[in-house]
Amino acid sequence: MENSLWRELALSAPPVTHIDFKTQSGCPLPLAVLRLDLIHPHLSGNKVFKLLPNLLYARELGIRHLLSFGGVYSNHIHALAYAGMQAGFTTTGIIRGQDLNTATLQDARQWGMQLCATDFAQYRKRHGSEYLAQLQARYPDALIIPEGGANQHAVTGFNDVFRFIETEKYTGLICACGTGTTLAGLINAMPADWQAIGIAVLKAPWMKQEVSRWLDVQGQNKTWQTITDAHLGGYAKVNDEYLGWLADFEKQYALPLDPVYTGKVLYALWQEKIPLAQNKPWLVIHTGGLQGKRGFLR
Ligand SMILES: Cc1ncc(COP(=O)(O)O)c(C=O)c1O
Repeated sequence: MENSLWRELALSAPPVTHIDFKTQSGCPLPLAVLRLDLIHPHLSGNKVFKLLPNLLYARELGIRHLLSFGGVYSNHIHALAYAGMQAGFTTTGIIRGQDLNTATLQDARQWGMQLCATDFAQYRKRHGSEYLAQLQARYPDALIIPEGGANQHAVTGFNDVFRFIETEKYTGLICACGTGTTLAGLINAMPADWQAIGIAVLKAPWMKQEVSRWLDVQGQNKTWQTITDAHLGGYAKVNDEYLGWLADFEKQYALPLDPVYTGKVLYALWQEKIPLAQNKPWLVIHTGGLQGKRGFLR
């Protein structure tokens, strides 16, 4: 990887884990899992692909301060704080909620991020142009990165994922969708004969439209779909049956999952929410987020 930030952040190539998965009715579904969760202890999963192009863009502009938004368990805020520190940026996190003492935010603070608690009403304005202009006036030296790192720079970052994939081995890819940026970036970068499936982890009937808006000309001609009925009640919503299934899965396959994103992807596959042809295995993209699990284990 010639990208100097890649070296600066000491990132390594991720392994692929093959699992003999069976769905709830006992159908074999051989899967491969691209372990982006193992790229780096603090910059794992999709985060690094979203953040590196933003960091490079800021550097090009001579900007040394990055500001973004997230909840008190945010994987994005956690990764931004670490990447910012390692690459020599100051960082500010606008946080939804008042509890700045979660393990996630303790790490972020330790890595030098300035944390600013906002109430839910204020936080809701985070996409509004008026609020963003006020924020920019308050932090004139900062590059403002949207919540979840969801911007065009992030979308282009997923080209790099394909350096690690032997594409001829798989039918296509399956991943979690929050903002849809990761899926869009992967669709743009995947081979034309691949298929992609995104599992929305929140109530998002609009997910297909949202992903479409990030697709480039090649991406628009590819085969992909979103599944919007596998969120288990909404973002970060879980139930005992699911958590029990997750614990069994982790034990059986020795593969750690986060309950908010990739856990819901595998559970949807187990529940047969997605009819999958089985000529070649599908590649599940493990998008990380294991740090956020600490919020579930309290
Ligand atoms: C661990 C993890 N996986 C998946 C996603 C979903 O990615 P996206 O928001 O790009 O759809 C997120 C959120 O960014 C995340 O934190």
